[in-house]
Amino acid sequence: MNDNEIKQAVRERYAKVASTASSCCGAGTSSCCSPTDLATDYSKSIGYSEAEISSVPEGANLGLGCGNPVALASLKEGEVVLDLGSGPGFDCFLAAARVGQSGKVIGVDMTPEMLQKARENKSKGGFENVEFRLGEIENLPVADSSVDVIISNCVINLSPQKGRVFQEAFRVLKPGGRLMVSDIVLLEELPKNIMDSVAAYVGCVAGASKKGDYLDAISRTGFKDVKVVGEISIPEDFSLGEEIIKSMINDFGVDKSDLKKLRKSIQSIKVHALKS
Ligand SMILES: C[S@@+](CC[C@H](N)C(=O)[O-])C[C@H]1O[C@@H](n2cnc3c(N)ncnc32)[C@H](O)[C@@H]1O
Repeated sequence: MNDNEIKQAVRERYAKVASTASSCCGAGTSSCCSPTDLATDYSKSIGYSEAEISSVPEGANLGLGCGNPVALASLKEGEVVLDLGSGPGFDCFLAAARVGQSGKVIGVDMTPEMLQKARENKSKGGFENVEFRLGEIENLPVADSSVDVIISNCVINLSPQKGRVFQEAFRVLKPGGRLMVSDIVLLEELPKNIMDSVAAYVGCVAGASKKGDYLDAISRTGFKDVKVVGEISIPEDFSLGEEIIKSMINDFGVDKSDLKKLRKSIQSIKVHALKS
């Protein structure tokens, strides 16, 4: 698959997630698309508080993340925050409460159905300081040096051009601005049949980089103080989804031992970096 085909597959997957209000990458125990209450349990397991979860409109948290960048981003009143791959808006709404009316939160997502969902959630919650923009994180619809903090939750692994994403992040940050992202990385190379699986790609696995490569890509862009500030192994209830597993077994000949290896290799990390 070339880069455009990968993006199209990712867009189609998340369009489906948005329209069924359910999750594929992250929460879920038994099926690909898990209901919102599972998303709530999953979100608690990765660090969101009960108060945070209940402060956003229903449907804003689909359990699509793999960490809580907002908790670590130490957002301050008045700051401009950009969320890469904002999905239905969960982290944007949490960030909005922290930066207040003098601040602003911009969410960018390439899937129109997801954007529509985020905008509906914004109206439901009356978040006046949040704006959602349609766009790709490889070509951000955001002005140079205009953002204080970039957050992103379980998205950059889905990009076939991660270096380009970090360059764009660097471009739009103000000098002194910070990058604070949660993402999936791999501790070892996956078997080729899994790497070739579209289902594994859209399920946030096959597109993930090795941890060292991910951090190097951030440093190469010019970011300073690149630090892993938190990491967890794949939570017990992080499901790859029945549909994804079926496709890996039936279409790509992945066997059970490969699946076990895959699980062990997946890590969720929180990374902090500065534009000096
Ligand atoms: C796993 S979901 C995470 C959503 C959100 N960050 C959350 O935690 O709820 C991935 C989201 O990233 C978006 N996305 C994936 N690749 C993208 C890209 N290259 N540019 C913009 N958005 C992208 C998808 O449309 C989807 O909404």
